[in-house]
Amino acid sequence: MKLSDCHNIDDFRRLAKARLPWPVFDYIKGGADDEITKARNTSAFDDVDLVPDVLAGVENIDTSCTIMGRRSELPLVLSPTALQRAFHRDGERAVAKAAEKFGVWFGISSLATHSIEEIAALTDAPKLFQLYVHKDKGLNASMIDRCKTAGFDALVLTVDTIVSGKRERCLRSGFTTPPRFSPSSLWSYATRPRWTLDYILGPKFRLPNLDGYVSEGTGKAVSIQDYFNTMLDTAMDWNTAASIRREWGGTFALKGVMSAADARRAVQIGADAIWISNHGGRQLDGSRAPFDQLAEIVDEVGGEIEIILDGGIRRGTHALKSLCQGATASSGGRLYLYALAAAGQEGVERALLILKEEIERGMRLMGVTSVQQLNRDRLRKR
Ligand code: FNR
Repeated sequence: MKLSDCHNIDDFRRLAKARLPWPVFDYIKGGADDEITKARNTSAFDDVDLVPDVLAGVENIDTSCTIMGRRSELPLVLSPTALQRAFHRDGERAVAKAAEKFGVWFGISSLATHSIEEIAALTDAPKLFQLYVHKDKGLNASMIDRCKTAGFDALVLTVDTIVSGKRERCLRSGFTTPPRFSPSSLWSYATRPRWTLDYILGPKFRLPNLDGYVSEGTGKAVSIQDYFNTMLDTAMDWNTAASIRREWGGTFALKGVMSAADARRAVQIGADAIWISNHGGRQLDGSRAPFDQLAEIVDEVGGEIEIILDGGIRRGTHALKSLCQGATASSGGRLYLYALAAAGQEGVERALLILKEEIERGMRLMGVTSVQQLNRDRLRKR
């Protein structure tokens, strides 16, 4: 299978599976516990149907919208995700350049494998930094300062990882940074020579925004689970979020809000946006799908705060259904991560092209010429 054989997001998953050692692939794919929430994130879109209009004159359509004060050519954000150089040697750089080409927002994680400064120097595309709140307040303050100096457009505070979800695929595979080899995983590294060579010759998975805290240089294998459970601040609360917003002073969002009551609190602390998200089903298994929560959150705070729907998006029509239900835009991780693993920047660009074409085709078939025309009249509960 090659890149030109990828015609939808799931095709990239198959190609990524062929190219990545299984512990790395399973790190991307995996959810928490029984992965019920992860599956539900996507299947939730099947519980509502689109109602098209015809003969609407759809020769010229406009897919653009405004997200957190910046124009976006598509109603889509590339969610921040960790460790991108573990998936492809170009890591976050590849994603940033692809996002720039398509005129969409992208985010880098606190656990990015390129530095804040490197990414900022690379592109003027709208970019956000995703902050985890560490127990070490000096570390939080230094990340915020570095983002300010580098000119990041938004700070997004992730609030759904107070402890790590139980990601059983990673427990089985021993996925750590650096990877811990076992007899069963060794075979898959040996049979993925391109990845393994990149790893041996390449820059390794340094975490430059956490330098001195977690890095390969310490010689210690630190799993993501260890990082969450030892370094993050379990005492974090709404006062913490409010004080980080003040410290940052710019466009600010909360990622991981799932209830209408919390969405209201986000408005009260002056956030500009919320990400309705369950971390791609990687945290609380058994929690609802973001799309299932969208309507009641829109009813509570719609018009007062931007609402980004994050999780399970694999099709242009999923993005359209989210817009119909009242989201400002939708966002996703695996929708570009498998493509990154499959073919770096070229892969992410192809994934974005496929999603763009699906959105455009969907809009024409729905009989709308702008994303602003999508509303609840266009949706029916099955
Ligand atoms: C993530 N996600 C995530 N979120 C975050 O705030 N900080 C992070 O470092 C990461 N890292 C991460 C790694 C991987 C491999 C995945 C798959 C996800 C969650 C991410 O931002 C987003 O919420 C989910 O990916 C959305 O679900 P989908 O689109 O992957 O279904």
